[in-house]
Amino acid sequence: MGLEKRTVKIIVIVAVVLLVIGAILGLILGLLLHQRYVELEVWPRSEEYTWEQPLIQFRPSDTGSWHPWYKRMNDFLRAYETTIPEDPPRAPCSTRNRRDDPIRSNNCEIAMRMWGPCTADEFYGYSMGRPCVFLRLNHIHYWVPHPYNVSTSLSIPTEMPENIKQFMMQRPAQTYGDYVWVSCGGEYNSDKENIGPIQYIPAGLPPGFPLSRLHTADKIPYANRNLPDQVPPPLIAVYFENPRREVLINVECRIWTRDIYYDQSSRVGRARFELFVNQ
Ligand SMILES: *[C@@H]1O[C@H](CO)[C@@H](O)[C@H](O)[C@H]1NC(C)=O
Repeated sequence: MGLEKRTVKIIVIVAVVLLVIGAILGLILGLLLHQRYVELEVWPRSEEYTWEQPLIQFRPSDTGSWHPWYKRMNDFLRAYETTIPEDPPRAPCSTRNRRDDPIRSNNCEIAMRMWGPCTADEFYGYSMGRPCVFLRLNHIHYWVPHPYNVSTSLSIPTEMPENIKQFMMQRPAQTYGDYVWVSCGGEYNSDKENIGPIQYIPAGLPPGFPLSRLHTADKIPYANRNLPDQVPPPLIAVYFENPRREVLINVECRIWTRDIYYDQSSRVGRARFELFVNQ
């Protein structure tokens, strides 16, 4: 009888310990997956950057207020500097203003023109109150995207922005390759009114990330998936042509693929930030 009691006790203790360990592991895994799975990054970021309150605020007429953003942008883009940009260029090839950079290569000059006005030459638009932000995907080594295209009979969501649908029609995936499409807009109704026109830069190229340049799970051997990328991921710039001044504008950006479901509370493939342009 005594022995049995002890056995029961041990079984109960082991069970409880296992449950606790399981719960902790589950929680950690859940948190990791939640935050680490297909992140859409927004740049520039301040030192105090948090996902909840990522504020970009400046006064175009006050150099001291926008210059830190210009500097942060350059710090971020330095990893992409090159004298031999790809075609089309993956990012602005120089982080120096034209006046300080007189001996640019011809190819870099062309690349800079394609990325205009989101270049150091134009202070990324901040001096004019027309800021650019850069977007890129991170934590995609374990992801195989299922792109939206018109090559298959699978339907395209009706709420997809018109500009993406047009690109999909005009540049069929069989010829031009597949994209992880991107769109940005005001988060709430008032933001939609205040945000003004948006352009995706380079203008004339599809608004998104070409699958051919993304290091997704289908392109890297299993053993290398936790290694960092040799080449930084491709960028797309979003240019706010005329955001209303003196109001906080909540901006939401998201990617469009068949396998990532849109959910306003999710961080997977979705980013938000706040824009405040002072008068
Ligand atoms: C088009 O989309 C489908 C479904 O996501 C995908 O399987 C296919 O590889 C894509 N590309 C082409 C060129 O069909």
